[in-house]
Amino acid sequence: MAKPVTSFTCTECGAAHKKWAGRCDACGAWNSIVEEAPLAQGPGRGLGAARGRMVPLAGLATDEPPPARTASGVEEFDRVLGGGLVPGSAILVGGDPGIGKSTLLLQAAAALARRGAQAIYLSGEEAGSQIRMRAARLGLTDAPVRLGAETNLRDILTTLDAEKPDLAVVDSVQTLWSDQVQAAPGSVAQVRAAAHELVTFAKRSGVAVILVGHVTKDGQIAGPRVVEHMVDTVLYFEGERGHQFRILRSVKNRFGPAGEIGVFEMTGGGLAEVANPSALFLSERGQPVAGSAVFAGIEGTRPVLTEVQALVAPSTLASPRRTVVGLDSGRVSTILAVLESRCGIPFAGLDVFLNVAGGMRVAEPAADLAIAGALLSAREDAPLPPEAVLFGEISLSGALRPVAQAENRLKEAQKLGFSQAILPESQRLEGDGAMRIARMADLTGFVGEVFGAG
Ligand code: TYD
Ligand code: MG
Repeated sequence: MAKPVTSFTCTECGAAHKKWAGRCDACGAWNSIVEEAPLAQGPGRGLGAARGRMVPLAGLATDEPPPARTASGVEEFDRVLGGGLVPGSAILVGGDPGIGKSTLLLQAAAALARRGAQAIYLSGEEAGSQIRMRAARLGLTDAPVRLGAETNLRDILTTLDAEKPDLAVVDSVQTLWSDQVQAAPGSVAQVRAAAHELVTFAKRSGVAVILVGHVTKDGQIAGPRVVEHMVDTVLYFEGERGHQFRILRSVKNRFGPAGEIGVFEMTGGGLAEVANPSALFLSERGQPVAGSAVFAGIEGTRPVLTEVQALVAPSTLASPRRTVVGLDSGRVSTILAVLESRCGIPFAGLDVFLNVAGGMRVAEPAADLAIAGALLSAREDAPLPPEAVLFGEISLSGALRPVAQAENRLKEAQKLGFSQAILPESQRLEGDGAMRIARMADLTGFVGEVFGAG
């Protein structure tokens, strides 16, 4: 029998490596690779004892009718799930420590329990009394959620198997430990084993299981990414600490659209749902100022307007600052390069600061034109028309490319009182409502039209 070899695993992304290295080539994280004890060897190769059962594809639909979803009543949460919890599904909710994961899930579990479903909340992080204190603060003490403070995986499975609730929240997967795995709680091996057992339990029993996973900065604790592939749905709860807005985003969903967002506001009494995020993200806009552009975006299935803010200032540094918050910095560098080489507008010697108001994160390429608009407006010290929204993708040649769902973007903009839209010439529109549409073929044309210079 071959000698078991120790393996090295990245705690960020779970990639396996032959030897230790300071940086993981798979995800680029530093100091995230740890040594793992070899798995115990099985009985060896060859055929297994039992034969698996096969069923025809056509038979599945009649054998197992699609399960009804259970809506928790927290609408923003249900929407991100694709319309509610699917029985037997495994959901991972990841996010930075302190962002509000426990608060959100306690509220969701309580809402579900108030509707008559059985909900269990297992916490390895807080004592029952702490959770009760939080529940009191959130006004949830009357909700029939049952609490447990268990971290032993085997005991948790026994409990859940006996109780058979509709929903079990396990907070967090990094605190669980299985006596079958010889590694510390929080290690990649433990987190994977716990997630695997709980996902298998969910499928077998029909209990919807939500696993909470902290996004970790230090390499010793495995992050939620190492279990993403096992679960049906992956949600990330994000937001800036300094802002009260929190966004729940689905990055993978076997039962609904990925990329859907739910918007919440952290208040003294817990998380409040935000039904109209555009109004919220634009609420801080005052008088028209240079460097501000309103982007008509789409997040998942719904349109969301956000304000892109830019500040451009003379730099004293040899390599000027490029500080980008809430936008892809690679994308921003590309736009700066296109402005320099295609439009002849240099940004050398200038510090550039860019962010999205309210702590929102925008990943759509459709935001390119709004980013360019904010940058130019800041550089020229000339405000964009305050009643205008922008969208369009910028290609390396400086041409503007059309984007998806233009009508939805315009409709949302109109609803919020905007009367003008600046968009690519090639954008096809089926009706533009009452909006004034300014079509631009390329970035040079946009610069000339809006800022009166070539
Ligand atoms: P928590 O849900 O414990 O975060 P996580 O489980 O993701 O680590 O949220 C902690 C933060 O939320 C804490 O800094 C305080 C804040 N908070 C409020 O502002 N209002 C509230 O009603 C509650 C319960 C928490
Ligand atoms: Mg917590």
